[in-house]
This record gives sequence, structure tokens and C-alpha cells, in this order.
Amino acid sequence: MSFVRVCALSDLADDSATAFEVDGVAVCLARSQGEVLALLDECSHAEVALSDGEVHAGTVECWLHGSRFDLRTGKPIGPPATEAVTTYPVRVDGDDVLVDVKE
Ligand code: FES
Repeated sequence: MSFVRVCALSDLADDSATAFEVDGVAVCLARSQGEVLALLDECSHAEVALSDGEVHAGTVECWLHGSRFDLRTGKPIGPPATEAVTTYPVRVDGDDVLVDVKE
């Protein structure tokens, strides 16, 4: 386990996604339904940033072709993407949000 502090919880608005670089990995941090989730910031269908997509009810929607991904599992819920996006463990410690990209 190697959790790294990425931002403050108060930096993340509900139903939003933000791009961060954590230990050289592009990470999309999303806040939805009171939870903070981290995924690789790259759609599994083409190389575009998921952090530019819309977050809604525990999912992020890719802005390019509209696949939605479950923020908890990284699995696509609708086409055209068929492969899951890598997810990373998140820990919220007070107002600090920590992510482990080395798991
Ligand atoms: S690039 Fe994301 S769905 Fe096509």
C-alpha cells in the first residue's frame, strides 16, 4: 500500500470529476453519492480523459462516444466501450483524499 495525498476533500464538488497526476499516473478522481472514487483517466475505448466527462449517480460518462463507466468497478455500463478501466483505492482521512496507484 502506498497512499499519496492528492487533494482536499473540499476541492471535489459532488457529481464532478477532476484530473490529477499521482506518481506519474493520470488519475480521474470523481465524487458521487458521497463517495470519492479513482480511475485511470483514460477511456478504455479511445485515449480520451474520463475526467472531462459527466459524473452522475455513481457513473462517469465518456464525452466522446457516451459509454458510461461504474466508478466503483470501472466496468462499462453501455457501448461502445467493452473493457473496464483500472480503478484505484481511495482513502479519505479528515479533509485529505489519498489514492494508491501502486496496488
Ligand atoms: S472514447 Fe470513450 S466511449 Fe469512445
